[in-house]
Amino acid sequence: MFLKKESTNKLRLHKKADSQIYIRVYRWNPHIQHKPWFSIYPILLNKCGPMVLDALVQIKNYQDSSLTFRRSCREGICGSCAMNIEGTNTLACLKVLKLKTKFITIYPLPHMYVIKDLVIDLTNFYSQYKSIKPWLVSENHTEKEQLQSKVDRAELNGLYECILCACCSASCPSYWWNQEVYLGPAILLQAYKWITDSRDSNTYERLDFLNHKMRLFRCHTIMNCSKTCPKNLNPGKAISNLKQQIIHLIK
Ligand code: SF4
Ligand code: SF4
Ligand code: FES
Repeated sequence: MFLKKESTNKLRLHKKADSQIYIRVYRWNPHIQHKPWFSIYPILLNKCGPMVLDALVQIKNYQDSSLTFRRSCREGICGSCAMNIEGTNTLACLKVLKLKTKFITIYPLPHMYVIKDLVIDLTNFYSQYKSIKPWLVSENHTEKEQLQSKVDRAELNGLYECILCACCSASCPSYWWNQEVYLGPAILLQAYKWITDSRDSNTYERLDFLNHKMRLFRCHTIMNCSKTCPKNLNPGKAISNLKQQIIHLIK
């Protein structure tokens, strides 16, 4: 894993510190509890790994096994540890434990249905993903490998890295209020990836499906999505490119 310079400096500071901080976590099991509440857990920095996910794992292992969150790869690849940390949607495994404040507040991704604590329901998100046909459609029915030129392959840079963490969609006001119909930035970036792939021959059908006032055009270019993406991708730009392609198609 490559960390930015700022993160490396924070890690150095982290090693020196032996102070205690507090992790304040949103708790709720909507099936059995009326209201959410917060649990506050002390963490000794010199007894914990450097990332927010390390602190959550330590809490689960040694303080409160009932705390519920998703995680798998712990290196920014699986997208499962997405949550809202100090007001920003991000990945807990890539977020360094901050030293400026004694409290770190963690919520689940906002405006999503909570299953328990930090675990949100992604059923709608994945059914939207399925709706864009996230696979290669090719007229070339040969079993041979389909090669791409270096230039065509480079077109996928900035798109293929998306890990479907949903941080962007959960930061988008249009998605907050219309997530039953608006596809949201994560799924639209994925749709744009398949449209951009030189090996795919379903471009017209894909654009035709997206040419819909709610599925795509509900995006108002607020750009929260691009600001929050923990992989530094630009779903807002992908959406803008999709809109332009559809406008050219209609002409
Ligand atoms: S575009 Fe970024 S924030 Fe959105 S799902 Fe992909 S990796 Fe996550
Ligand atoms: S640019 Fe579009 S998708 Fe991104 S946050 Fe704004 S409205 Fe949502
Ligand atoms: S645990 Fe996989 S992205 Fe954080």
